[in-house]
Amino acid sequence: MTKPPRIYFDNAATTPVSEKALAAMLPYFRENFGNPSAIHHYGTEANKVVEERRKQVAKNIGAISSEIFFTSGGTESDNWAISHALAVNGRKGRHLVSTAIEHNAVLKPLERLEGSGWKATLIKPDEYGQITPEQLEEAIRPDTVLVSVIMASNVIGTILNIRELCATAHRHGVLFHTDAVQAAGHIPIDVRQLGVDLLSISAHKFQGPKGAGALFSKIPRVPVPLILGGGQEKGARSGTENVPGVVGLSQALTEAVENMDQNSKRLTDLRDQLIASTLRIPGTYLTGHPTNRLPGHASFVIEGLAHGAHLINELNEAGICASSGSACSASSREASGVLSALGLNEQLAMAALRLSLSPENTEEEVETVAKALARLIPKVRDLTKNNRYSH
Ligand SMILES: Cc1ncc(COP(=O)(O)O)c(C=O)c1O
Repeated sequence: MTKPPRIYFDNAATTPVSEKALAAMLPYFRENFGNPSAIHHYGTEANKVVEERRKQVAKNIGAISSEIFFTSGGTESDNWAISHALAVNGRKGRHLVSTAIEHNAVLKPLERLEGSGWKATLIKPDEYGQITPEQLEEAIRPDTVLVSVIMASNVIGTILNIRELCATAHRHGVLFHTDAVQAAGHIPIDVRQLGVDLLSISAHKFQGPKGAGALFSKIPRVPVPLILGGGQEKGARSGTENVPGVVGLSQALTEAVENMDQNSKRLTDLRDQLIASTLRIPGTYLTGHPTNRLPGHASFVIEGLAHGAHLINELNEAGICASSGSACSASSREASGVLSALGLNEQLAMAALRLSLSPENTEEEVETVAKALARLIPKVRDLTKNNRYSH
């Protein structure tokens, strides 16, 4: 495979589609382009592949195919999980529990609900981004309808204890959703073991295509639709199915799950090398848990920078693509809510660096990035001190 000339360490934002996923998708653009609802040859072929791939996605997370609903990605799955839970359980009350480290795909729907009479309690994590069952126990009220907790943070990489948190919610008869967008394909997921009612995944975070995701729901009721129209997905989600997207999602997930042990060991080693070399630069601090974190995810805050974007720009000039937290807030002038929730002061929370790896990254790339950081962090600090960089 030809490697791009740049070093790409922003895989938590998005990943290149794997060769196998791409090859699996291609026939569904021209040879097998049918609309799965059509009853002729092309339609039935397309329908057959969507149902086969649904089974395959289900198998990869320990579910059954009737529990998988295809979506346009993580954002839609998160929005839908929340609205479905409210529709099913809304009679119980008007209270929701989530955490201060969720992605906006969860936080924004909660904000909107707060505008229409709902109340959301956001649990503050400890300094590593973890929350405990005791904290959840305290937050749950008799009128709580849903608990939604991210499985692994996109900003700081910490993996949360979903099994225990879900058991706590269930003891109180509360539905549980997890945003597993960063976790799927990277760490093992078995929905039965976890016990969750709802779970969101997105293909482009594990080398599948953008615009393809899935919602797992074991609630014994077809999810209340967010999108109305032709009644596809058993009436749960209208719109002609994204057949190549479904194929790419399922192929990439299968590949990621098959290679997970091997990839995870290798990526953990590379990540730890990257963490060790970065922390040798004075005034750099790891964010998130030191070990209980996503295999390819290293995140830091750095003293003496006015904004993480200044370092990202210098790295970019040097041919290295990284990010300063989540992709959606790359150029934001506000500190990441996640980093502030960890108790970091605003100045440090503004100066974040996230390096996220995929199985396509190499040890040489890690060494090159380590050297570049040792050179560029002092450079950006100097420029900041001399007012060449400000907010
Ligand atoms: C944790 C998390 N949830 C949800 C999303 C949204 O997923 P998508 O880009 O597929 O809409 C992302 C993507 O950045 C994410 O990292």
